[in-house]
Amino acid sequence: MEASSPGTKTVVYDDDVVRAFALATIIFGAIGLLVGALAATQLSFWQANFGTSWLSFGRLRPLHTNAAIFGFVGNMIFCGVYYSSQRLLKTRMASDALSWIHFWGYQIILLGAAVTLPLGLTQGKEYAELIWPLDLAVVAIWVVFAVNFFWTLGKRNERNLYVAIWFYIATIVTIAVLYIVNNLQLPTSPTHSYSIFTGVQDALVQWWYGHNAVAFFLTTPILGIMYYFLPKAAGRPVYSYRLSIVHFWSLIFLYIWAGPHHLLYTALPDWAQTLGMIFSIMLWAPSWGGMLNGLLTLRGAWDKLRDDPVIKFYIVAVTFYGMSTFEGPLLSIKSVNALGHYTDWIIGHVHGGTLGWNGFMAIGMLYWMVPRLWKTELFSKRIAELHFWIATFGILLYVVAMWISGVSQGLFLRALDADGGLKYLDFITTLDKSRFMYQMRLVGGIAYLASYLLGLFNLFATIAKGSRSVVSVQVPYASTRA
Ligand code: HEM
Repeated sequence: MEASSPGTKTVVYDDDVVRAFALATIIFGAIGLLVGALAATQLSFWQANFGTSWLSFGRLRPLHTNAAIFGFVGNMIFCGVYYSSQRLLKTRMASDALSWIHFWGYQIILLGAAVTLPLGLTQGKEYAELIWPLDLAVVAIWVVFAVNFFWTLGKRNERNLYVAIWFYIATIVTIAVLYIVNNLQLPTSPTHSYSIFTGVQDALVQWWYGHNAVAFFLTTPILGIMYYFLPKAAGRPVYSYRLSIVHFWSLIFLYIWAGPHHLLYTALPDWAQTLGMIFSIMLWAPSWGGMLNGLLTLRGAWDKLRDDPVIKFYIVAVTFYGMSTFEGPLLSIKSVNALGHYTDWIIGHVHGGTLGWNGFMAIGMLYWMVPRLWKTELFSKRIAELHFWIATFGILLYVVAMWISGVSQGLFLRALDADGGLKYLDFITTLDKSRFMYQMRLVGGIAYLASYLLGLFNLFATIAKGSRSVVSVQVPYASTRA
């Protein structure tokens, strides 16, 4: 920091680490989608397993989910948090060293996942597959992130904490608790361990973590990013600040209890299942409050929807947020879950949330941020438009194919013959009937991937014609927090 005019000092933001996370986001997005497309090909054409165990579906699937969730969305979160927090708190990140340890440490962990998962080294817990040495590394890096973030919060030059910061705080604290508890384990070798939980307790802890990974990794940080970047892109203040605060507190209070909706009709005590169902249904209200707050922020700026690709991506993202948070509570109702569980309906739901909500938010954020970070205009608005339409077509085809396939599977599995016995004893029948829909899903997924590669080209071409920006702000010497 250097002194400028009397009574003020100049704060220069650290956008180098933001640029690094932006590049990592773009690259991991491509890897995650590519591996997903290969996994989808295998479900339609078994030959795509290529006869090797390390490329088989069982190993590619966790590689895909880890690359997409922790590689793509994770890097996008850090990118958005580092960019917006510095601006909202009017200060540089507290420690450049911690920022870079965070960046490189996280990429090394992802590399570790990319090696161990194809080798079949896994804990066998969904979204918590990483072996224990990598888990320890995740905890260490998360602590580095947390220390850097809260230290920055402590030295801020802005009194008020905008709602996005509250969402980031909830993310950092809750993910730490969830990750540590779900990964409590006794190592038996450098690559193997046993969970300290067993039986139904293990299942409950796992889905308390699993559901809240969705809530506090795929949702709360993205909502923080929405509350910062959507008003910026629209050039309007958030529709209702009061609603955003109600959204925040009700969401975090309700989300944490909903995990048992993943364990309906299992050995979990019935009261716990019902509790999970009720809290999931209640979640609908705050989720839609947040969605409407996002959409209504565009009041008076709807004309931008016509020719601003960033707004287009945001609108579809927020709409998919609304759709998944309507579908989620619906799927949590026991009788609906009896039809949807163990079928492709869940896969449809998941991808509405991840490709639609997370993916479109990430792309919107990158299209808005990359030209600013590299002090230039977007390379091509027309390519961005094309990206938007192909991606929207791809995701709709994907989700509709999985809905049709999923509901048919559910109906096949419960169909009874005249004597009251199961009509389709042969499980293969249900798979055979799903084949066409799997191929449609593959077409949808490849369209989404192809559009993403167009976006990747567009963003790299933008970077190539620009130069690093340095952004600073004047703040009073005396802290404005008093
Ligand atoms: C109000 C919000 C939501 C509720 C109540 C909810 C509820 C559910 C339910 C009931 C399931 C199916 C469990 C099963 O039968 O197997 C499920 C699965 C899933 N949901 Fe949601 N959902 C919500 C929002 C979202 C969002 C926004 C995303 C993504 C960003 C998402 C991602 C997932 C994932 C990844 C799974 C699959 C878990 C697995 O691997 O089995 N959900 N959700």
